[in-house]
Amino acid sequence: MIDLRSDTVTLPTKEMRIAMADAHVGDDVYREDETINHLEKMSAELMGKEEGLFLTSGTMGNLIAILTTCQRGDEVIMGDCSHTFLHEVGGISALGGVMAHTLPNLPNGTIDINRIQEAIRGADIHEPSTRMVVLENTHNRCGGVAISKEYIDQIGVISQNYGLSFHMDGARIFNAAIKLNEPVKSLIQNVDSITFCLSKGLGAPVGSVLCGTTDFIQKARKIRKQLGGGMRQAGIIAAGGVYALNHNINRIINDHRRANVLAIGLQSIEGIDLAPNTPQTNMVFLNIRLSENQTIDQIQDDLRTKGILVGVAGKQSLRLVTHLGISDEDIQKVISGFMDLSKDYLN
Ligand SMILES: Cc1ncc(COP(=O)(O)O)c(C=O)c1O
Repeated sequence: MIDLRSDTVTLPTKEMRIAMADAHVGDDVYREDETINHLEKMSAELMGKEEGLFLTSGTMGNLIAILTTCQRGDEVIMGDCSHTFLHEVGGISALGGVMAHTLPNLPNGTIDINRIQEAIRGADIHEPSTRMVVLENTHNRCGGVAISKEYIDQIGVISQNYGLSFHMDGARIFNAAIKLNEPVKSLIQNVDSITFCLSKGLGAPVGSVLCGTTDFIQKARKIRKQLGGGMRQAGIIAAGGVYALNHNINRIINDHRRANVLAIGLQSIEGIDLAPNTPQTNMVFLNIRLSENQTIDQIQDDLRTKGILVGVAGKQSLRLVTHLGISDEDIQKVISGFMDLSKDYLN
């Protein structure tokens, strides 16, 4: 199977597994796991923040960042297409009593700056308090688009002026940094906290890291424990993350190149319309011209029978994500698979 459903499907390589098997471990709740301590330090340095905290997932990272900063009844400004709003099971309100104040995401993944400023609450006793702004980079729903340093810095200034915290859902921050040719540290210089994922483009089997100030991470560590996320000899999984940071950052550029080759190959196939400006990084979005009784799920099933797994992104659209497990040869097979599909019945 050629699995393009997501970059979360990568499998640890033999070298990564060896690093995991050999990891020095200890009880991380006592801060005695050498490998986790190393991963957290490495991550903080890479992100240009004071400290890092190893977590099970990106969802947990965003949730903990918000719970660390907000009280019940507070409001967080975020895009209406953000992962935190759409795909994190409403955790911030279920567990923290925090409201998402959503504003429209523009096609380039940003939010209109004037809208953000207008949305920030004043001192009116009737209103909730705005406490935080969350951005996502790369922006998944907006096509894997990378958000520029200039825009991030502008939001940083606004957040500072209004006394808000600024969190980045940087699940794919390395894809953004590579696309923008900007060191991660500099890209997120004006962000207070960031979650990045080890288990997407970086290819580790588990985990994310939340980074921020020492004071913030100290509070976040306690909330992680409260959520049942205090892990013990988890250096075994953190070692996959250390390996990924050492070996798999620069190779992400290959995923972007392969997404591009894939899009070029698909664009001339009858019955397929690429989404505007796709791909931005490692995601190709396309629309299928379905005939009357066809559904996108059928297309997905037919591709499965050809050995190709794709994600459904809408009633007529598919998402194809390149990652560490996808080779140049796979890309050619996928293009051929879509050509066969087109011959079979697309029009
Ligand atoms: C932009 C973004 N943020 C956060 C997450 C959540 O990560 P996890 O699946 O590790 O909870 C994802 C997962 O796909 C994502 O795409």
